[in-house]
Amino acid sequence: MKDIHISNKANRRQFLKAGSALAASATLLPFGTTRLFGASKSGNREVSIPTVALNNGIKMPILGFGTNTLVNDIGINAVADAISLGFRLIDTATVYGNEQFVGQGIKKSGIDRKELFITSKLWVDDSGFESTKKAFQTSLDKLQTDYLDLYLIHRPRGDVKGTWLAMEALYKEGRIRAIGLSNFEPHQIKELMTYAKVNPIVNQIETHVFFQEIEAYNTLPGMNIQHEAWSPLAEGRNGIFTNKTLASIGKKYGKNNAQVSLRWHFQRGIVAIPRSKNKAHMMENLNIFDFELSDEDLQTISTLDLNKTQFPEWS
Ligand SMILES: NC(=O)c1ccc[n+]([C@@H]2O[C@H](COP(=O)([O-])OP(=O)(O)OC[C@H]3O[C@@H](n4cnc5c(N)ncnc54)[C@H](OP(=O)(O)O)[C@@H]3O)[C@@H](O)[C@H]2O)c1
Repeated sequence: MKDIHISNKANRRQFLKAGSALAASATLLPFGTTRLFGASKSGNREVSIPTVALNNGIKMPILGFGTNTLVNDIGINAVADAISLGFRLIDTATVYGNEQFVGQGIKKSGIDRKELFITSKLWVDDSGFESTKKAFQTSLDKLQTDYLDLYLIHRPRGDVKGTWLAMEALYKEGRIRAIGLSNFEPHQIKELMTYAKVNPIVNQIETHVFFQEIEAYNTLPGMNIQHEAWSPLAEGRNGIFTNKTLASIGKKYGKNNAQVSLRWHFQRGIVAIPRSKNKAHMMENLNIFDFELSDEDLQTISTLDLNKTQFPEWS
């Protein structure tokens, strides 16, 4: 399995080629094949999820599992199911109120902690140096782990500087493997860079076929920051699952709209974290590495961009 590091536009082209090679080598391999990151059983097959190399050299799966709104037994079982099917990147946040359920789901899965890539996020109410350290420890306790793979500032509000300095301290202590941002616009990242000693590693932002975030897509690689998509399926909004353009593309490959959408993220080198409480959907979302969207398909999908959020209530 090739790690794919995307730091500029030229490398994105190489990434697409690498993505093609991955597709050609068929990620769905016969049961029993020894796999690298993300090896797991899915039906009678195994799914292996490619990774991207982040700017500090660590590897992050390019496809992960979102957990917003997944709570209680549904949340526990969804996380355990997702891991059993092959997801290794699990995305949660303090404000989702589900870190304890995510932690229980991980425990239920029986997976070795070292195989997982766990992300959580610092909520606005906890911003500031000391409160970030406290909130971080609370997240660890709820998740039943002693480190995070990725910790993000959830929104660019509150005492961002104090928060970032606390995250840098935790990162330097080895308690977080990567630190980053969420919902930061390019000018807000530049502001943070004026005092940051650690380059942010990831920016997680709303990105899907209806809001393609072209500016961030073009800007983040130059800042050496990995683009990660939240709501990669637009949470089902704007009729994404019945969209005729996506359906006609998917028909050529025997894939549905969710799979075409997630493949689009993959071919753009964007980490995507679809959420589902439905095992059949989870499997569909994992099965995106055995086909390739053509340049013409990508061009067609570019016309779906409405260039505006589908979540105006959060702006
Ligand atoms: N940083 C931030 O500010 C931020 C904001 C929002 C979200 N996030 C993160 O991003 C994750 C993903 O975003 P999201 O949860 O808003 O939405 P999403 O992943 O874009 O979409 C989830 C919806 O799609 C459905 N779905 C999933 N796979 C499907 C499939 N194959 N076919 C048909 N329907 C399918 C799910 O229903 P079923 O359960 O029925 O499958 C669910 O209703 C979140 O869970 C969270 O971890 C971060």
